[in-house]
Amino acid sequence: MIKNIAVIRGDGIGPEIVEQALRVLDRVAELYGHTFNYTDVDMGGCAIDKHGDPLPPSELQKCVESDSVLLGAVGGNKWNDVPATMRPEKGLLRLRAGMGVYSNNRPAKIWPQLADASPLKGEIVERGIDFIIVRELIGGIYFGEHKTENGVATDVLRYSEAEIERIGRIGFETAQKRSRRLCSVEKSNVLDSSRLWKKVMHRLAEEYPDVELSDMLVDNCAMQIVKDPSQFDVIVTENMFGDILSDEASMITGSIGMIPSSSLGATTCGLYEPIHGSAPDIAGQDKANPVGTILSAAMMLRFSFDMKDEADAIERAVSDYLDAGYRTADIMSEGKTLVGCTECGRIIAENIKV
Ligand code: IPM
Ligand code: MG
Repeated sequence: MIKNIAVIRGDGIGPEIVEQALRVLDRVAELYGHTFNYTDVDMGGCAIDKHGDPLPPSELQKCVESDSVLLGAVGGNKWNDVPATMRPEKGLLRLRAGMGVYSNNRPAKIWPQLADASPLKGEIVERGIDFIIVRELIGGIYFGEHKTENGVATDVLRYSEAEIERIGRIGFETAQKRSRRLCSVEKSNVLDSSRLWKKVMHRLAEEYPDVELSDMLVDNCAMQIVKDPSQFDVIVTENMFGDILSDEASMITGSIGMIPSSSLGATTCGLYEPIHGSAPDIAGQDKANPVGTILSAAMMLRFSFDMKDEADAIERAVSDYLDAGYRTADIMSEGKTLVGCTECGRIIAENIKV
């Protein structure tokens, strides 16, 4: 197959981790007889420096016209003082909205090889950590009106029934493919938007009688994720709650550097990115963990290109790399072999087999 991939290297460690993911994709192309064409897209701080805009319309256009988008990370202290509407992150939010990718899928799964990297007690980890956070990505407080006037700052949190319903359906469908348990997370004891959220989820539940729906308040959920993560299978939640809970969920699996994500909307053109940020403190030092980006590329093959065998091959290659005892600095422990970003990508690419 021939696929056109828009590639956003971005800022900080973005370029280094994306380089390794492309190396892995090239290896898959070679072994499985595909052609992946890459189109570079400027977004984030580097786009502000080059074009005075974190995502110029022409760059968004390249993404919308591609078969899918692979993204490293954007942002950094250098752009802290630019106006809010011009921040690097604004480019990312405009990209998500412009692509219409309302459904963000963030797995929290512990690799058996990394059980000792989890900050949770062994007995909790042993019960298993394997759940998915389905995060609504293009609505809520991120996209409401933001303003500061006379010393008063306002951010509007708004959800329509239709927006809740379409992400709710993804939650139910994801649960149907797993162990059929869906936990809807909100703050319905305080927020109107959450009361509407809960109402819509329960209305939808009637259409999915094979899925067991439960409700949880977001503060309790944050606590339950560290108390007993084995209770969760699929969590569905709104944009900001999903942002916060997915960082928490990633850490209990050992490192935020290992977690990929997919974002999809009405078409198969998806956005694939690790959930971590641009880590400017370690940028350019060959220390970053590229696995989150490599696994994001695997998700692209699985969800957008329907290349299941190829995606499995990448995931196996990562598992073999961990089995062989290689660790980047973020997950390094005694007796393991420390590798840099480039070496990590090289080993995983070499591990790929048909
Ligand atoms: C994420 C990030 C982004 C978000 C930032 C960079 C805008 O934290 O993808 O989780 O808040 O969505
Ligand atoms: Mg986040």
